[in-house]
Amino acid sequence: MRRVVGIEEWRRLAAEKRASGRRIGLVPTMGALHAGHESLVAAARANGDYVIMTIFVNPRQFNDPNDLRAYPRTPEADRPLAESFGVDALVEPTMAEMWPAYPDPTPTTVSVAGLGDVLEGAGRPGHFDGVASVVAKLAIVTGSSRAYFGEKDFQQLAVVRRMVLDLGLDVEVVGCPIVRDDDGLALSSRNVRLDASARARALSLSRALAAAADLGGPPSAMREAMAATMTAAQVVVGYAEVVDPATLRPLEDDATGPARALVAGVVDGVRLIDNREVEVRKGP
Ligand code: PAF
Repeated sequence: MRRVVGIEEWRRLAAEKRASGRRIGLVPTMGALHAGHESLVAAARANGDYVIMTIFVNPRQFNDPNDLRAYPRTPEADRPLAESFGVDALVEPTMAEMWPAYPDPTPTTVSVAGLGDVLEGAGRPGHFDGVASVVAKLAIVTGSSRAYFGEKDFQQLAVVRRMVLDLGLDVEVVGCPIVRDDDGLALSSRNVRLDASARARALSLSRALAAAADLGGPPSAMREAMAATMTAAQVVVGYAEVVDPATLRPLEDDATGPARALVAGVVDGVRLIDNREVEVRKGP
């Protein structure tokens, strides 16, 4: 596995690989790698891509400085893991190259209004501006590529797809299914911060989604069932929503068809999210 730090080397490497006929598969991460990231690399490899993984803990997507401080950073473990996943080149850009003005506010911001303001965006102002800005930069430096994102961050995927479309970036966005532990917990770099009791309570997120799927509608009843499941497990509910998968707008009770249920909750100070596809139908 090749290791790259500088933006120019990264840009040149991607160009060389394209010139030799390879398609670039970009896997953007913030490190603390787990099987969820491995599945993104596997998807890129299955497509025959030259896999470039980036690891950069992007401060601009953390609205809470404590959250940024507590975010797991495990570069020594990540490098051999990335290699074992089959990453071809690991890029660990420096802050000075990614955001030269940091910690001063960075003048250039990509903002996806609407999609970026609801759900996670409502509780974490500026979060998706940070995500859209960094993903735009990673994509522009990499150039023509396929970029792989997990559906665990369903809203992030929607924001990135919109940004790529609106800015005309030469990137094919590929969404990959959520990877779960055997007990149903969606894999997340944040899970390492859960002790055994917090982890048991965190399972209420996936249980809440299962309850919503079983209920099948109307959306208001699904929201109530999800919130009740999480509250019963002493999880502080951030949101429990049923939305149109394309617009992320909350569905009314007369909606029918495929929808997305999304939940966010705080367990012992750790913020977790999860989602799944559901079918909604009108109430009796
Ligand atoms: O999903 C993540 O890990 C991050 O939001 C991303 C896409 C790498 C941007 O910093």
